[in-house]
Amino acid sequence: MKFTNAIVRKPSKSMVQGLTSANLGSPNYQNALRQHKSYVAALQSCGVKVKILDADENYPDSTFVEDVALLTPHCAIITNPGAPSRRGEIENMKHVVKDFYSEIEEIKSPGFIEAGDIMMVGKHYYIGLSARTNREGAQQLIHILEKYDLTGSLVKLEKVLHLKTGLAYLENNNLVVCGEFLSNTGFQKFNRIEIPEEESYAANCIWINDKVIIPAGYPLAKQKILDAGYDIIEVDVSEFRKLDGGLSCLSLRF
Ligand code: GLY
Repeated sequence: MKFTNAIVRKPSKSMVQGLTSANLGSPNYQNALRQHKSYVAALQSCGVKVKILDADENYPDSTFVEDVALLTPHCAIITNPGAPSRRGEIENMKHVVKDFYSEIEEIKSPGFIEAGDIMMVGKHYYIGLSARTNREGAQQLIHILEKYDLTGSLVKLEKVLHLKTGLAYLENNNLVVCGEFLSNTGFQKFNRIEIPEEESYAANCIWINDKVIIPAGYPLAKQKILDAGYDIIEVDVSEFRKLDGGLSCLSLRF
């Protein structure tokens, strides 16, 4: 398994109006730009070519580019975000993925999916049913995946925003697990790297070509992932945390 490409979108000034349930104050745009640059550098240091899309002021959450597409080895699937304010983000992404894929599929209303709710484990895709992803959207996705010899299964979320808020697959059967997923029997078969609740934000980390990018400032999570044998790159993404955004949300990796 190797990723060769990533897509990111620069934060917009309008990000201060982004959706959030966090009580961490408003993001600082200049700091967010600096942090985004560091994030891109971290991706590049993992050996992927990064396509950097222009900021889109019309969509405050559009820097969280992961939610609007699922990029599999065989096809691109444009999602249909459950958050109404984010639905228009897909129009530009449809054009962007044409540079990389000939097979492009779409999730259609009344199906809704945000790809922060999708975790790839080899040829299998776990799909979180959340406030942003509904059963109809998940079933459309499974139908599409099966056309390409891929599979999907559902995971009911209780509390977190997206599936990958509390789970991260680090390849080699290693799974970062936190919060409500600790007791989920569907994830017992993995080598689990359990993240304590006080560092739950760090459960949203990303594996890229045997390195793991984690948010800066979470020493317990860092030590556990180091102990599992990974090289770690830390990136400060505190401005994005203020918008409920994690490391994975900031890129598409494929
Ligand atoms: N602010 C990221 C999201 O809620 O979609």
